[in-house]
Amino acid sequence: MILSVNNLNAGYGRVHVLKDISIEVNEGEIVCLVGANGAGKSTLLKAISGIIPIMQGRVTFRNLDITNSRPNHIVKEGISHVPEGRQIFGSLTVRQNLLLGTYIRKMKKEEISRLFNFIYSLFPILEKRLYQKAGTMSGGEQQMLAIARGLMSQPKLLLLDEPSLGLAPLVVETILNVIQHLKSTGISILLVEQNVNAALEIADRAYIIETGRIITTGNSKELRENDEIKRCYLGM
Ligand SMILES: Nc1ncnc2c1ncn2[C@@H]1O[C@H](COP(=O)(O)OP(=O)(O)O)[C@@H](O)[C@H]1O
Ligand SMILES: [Mg+2]
Repeated sequence: MILSVNNLNAGYGRVHVLKDISIEVNEGEIVCLVGANGAGKSTLLKAISGIIPIMQGRVTFRNLDITNSRPNHIVKEGISHVPEGRQIFGSLTVRQNLLLGTYIRKMKKEEISRLFNFIYSLFPILEKRLYQKAGTMSGGEQQMLAIARGLMSQPKLLLLDEPSLGLAPLVVETILNVIQHLKSTGISILLVEQNVNAALEIADRAYIIETGRIITTGNSKELRENDEIKRCYLGM
C-alpha cells in the first residue's frame, strides 16, 4: 500500500467537511474518487497534500506518517497535487512553469533535462510551446502543463483534481491516455473526475463520496454495474 487514509476528519475553520474518511491506494493503482459537486473531493486531496489541517485521523504514505506535515515536505516525500482549475502562472512561460515544479529539491542539470524529455514524450505540444506564455495557451494545453508541472517533482503518487473539466472530448482522451501511461511507469494515481464513465474505464478501483463520507467502494467493473451508480453518476 502506498497511501492510507484512516478516519480522516477535516474542513475549513469550524466547517467540518470530511467525516471519518478511510481510503487506500495500492502501489501502481489508479483509484478514482467520485462524488457530486461539494461532496468533499477537493477537500480530501487538500488534506492529503497538507494544504488544509487535519482535525482527526491519520494519513500514511509509504509507511511514513504525514498527517499535518508541511506541503513542501509532502511533495519531497513523493506526493504531487495537481489542483482543480490548474493554477499555472499565466504570465510565465511553459518552461518557467515547469522549472517551478523542480524547486522543491536540488536537481542536477541532467536530471532536469531528462524530466523535460519525459514531459515532451507525454505532451509533445509542450515542447513546441516551451517559450510561450502559459496564459496564452488553450485550456487543454494549460491542463497538460499543470499535470506536467506536477510530474517535475518526480512523484510516486499523483493527486489529480478534475483534470478533464471543461475540455474538448479529444483533449480529454489525450489526458486520460497519459494518466494510463503514467500508471505503466509505476506512478500511483488518485483521480477526481466528473467524467465518471471515462474514469471508471481507466481506474482500478473507486470510492464514492457523499457529503463528506465514503458511502461505497469497489473495483471499477463492479461499480459500473451497480444500479445506483448507474443512476446517480452514469446518467443511465
Ligand atoms: N475554502 C473553503 N472555505 C469554506 N468552505 C469550503 C471551502 N472550500 C470548500 N468548502 C466547502 O466544503 C465542501 C466540499 O467542497 P469541495 O471539497 O470543494 O467539494 P468537491 O471538490 O467534491 O466539489 C463544500 O460544502 C464547500 O462549500
Ligand atoms: Mg472539487
